[in-house]
Amino acid sequence: MRSFAFCNPVHIVFGKGKIAELDRLIPEDAFVLVLMGGGSVKKNGVYDQVVQALKSRKREDFWGIEANPDYDTCMRAVERIRSEKMNFVLAVGGGSVVDAAKFIVAAACYEDGDPWDIVTGKGRIKAALSFGAVLTLAATGSEMNAGSVISRRSIGAKLPFSSDKVFPKFSILDPETTYSLPAHISACGVVDAYVHVLEQYLSHDLPAPLQDRQAEAILLTLLEEGPKVLESPEDYHVRANIMWCATQALNGLIGCGVLQDWATHMIGHELTAAFGIAHAESLAVVLPALLRERREKKEAKLVQYGRRVLGVGEAEDVAEAAVAATEVFFRKMGLGTRLSDYGIPAEATFMLGDILDNRGFRLGEDRAVNGVMIQKILGRAAEPWN
Ligand code: NZQ
Ligand code: ZN
Repeated sequence: MRSFAFCNPVHIVFGKGKIAELDRLIPEDAFVLVLMGGGSVKKNGVYDQVVQALKSRKREDFWGIEANPDYDTCMRAVERIRSEKMNFVLAVGGGSVVDAAKFIVAAACYEDGDPWDIVTGKGRIKAALSFGAVLTLAATGSEMNAGSVISRRSIGAKLPFSSDKVFPKFSILDPETTYSLPAHISACGVVDAYVHVLEQYLSHDLPAPLQDRQAEAILLTLLEEGPKVLESPEDYHVRANIMWCATQALNGLIGCGVLQDWATHMIGHELTAAFGIAHAESLAVVLPALLRERREKKEAKLVQYGRRVLGVGEAEDVAEAAVAATEVFFRKMGLGTRLSDYGIPAEATFMLGDILDNRGFRLGEDRAVNGVMIQKILGRAAEPWN
């Protein structure tokens, strides 16, 4: 195992009816910006619960954070905070709203120039306002980590940043808030969480058997519970188990002391920025192609994954059987796994390798994924399914 530092200060409050605890969690004299998306929380009653729990606290609502939150929208929220001198942000929604809150609380305190530098990594976050989250979508793990992904549509960019200054102070996870999710978005959440685990598990490294088994536990649970959510969207225990899996998949624990890959995510972000496909859809396309392209390097872990998680240990080619079974799982959840499933022509993706190359990116656990390899990966993703 490698050396590591692990710090996770997020207070998780999990269960039915827990939104009421906002009253205990937010200081009474806070002036709160309540940050929300396009309106799902109004329809499913979450907004009413939040308003009731905030009682007479001074607050202002900010609607319109889009899926894949946009820099320009976030900056409008920053202006409101600055002009009204608000001192607390409450994110109410999915990963996009939580990610937006992380950028907003940092940008509101940023005094070293252009806040876009926070996202590109040119600027350092020295301070941030406090924020909490009421999560309504199990997927990203953003509720218990310090990462965020911000898009800037005006320049075709989608970039991640992280800072321990932007951990949520608390996150309320009430599985009932996720009953209203459309089936496809629930499925995307399961696939996103699954891929988060694989980004940390399917690399090569010094032995870390505890982290391996922790990762395998999450994968096995998602394989079991994921399809159930499509059948029974209002089964509390299914929703609760998926929600806790998604949080555990990216709260830093299974990534302790292991080499991590994340090339699938970085390539996927470019597909989303260029073609507008959902985050998890981009991952479902890139991951199988990447695993096939990088098979030699990942062979041992793929075989372990095939044997312990997918039950394909008897196959003639266990590594390939593991990738194939992963792809079948994504398709069972209703996600396309090839570019053609989203009407994206292969030629249209060829520039993505160059784009990442020009930014100087070398991806993967060994930094071996360069522009040429990205093009090979996307070439594989362009092959039709069966
Ligand atoms: O905007 P509203 O009306 O709220 O609708 C949202 C949105 O259209 C809807 N939704 C959310 N909760 C709902 C609901 N609809 C009905 N009932 C509910 N309870 O779902 C749609 C998608 O929401 P979004 O927040 O965009 O989805 P997700 O949670 O998957 O977040 C995706 C974003 O997170 C980033 C992605 O890149 C993407 O920008 N990621 C963040 C990570 C992190 N911070 O650690 C890691 C991830 O890998 C990921 O990259
Ligand atoms: Zn993801």
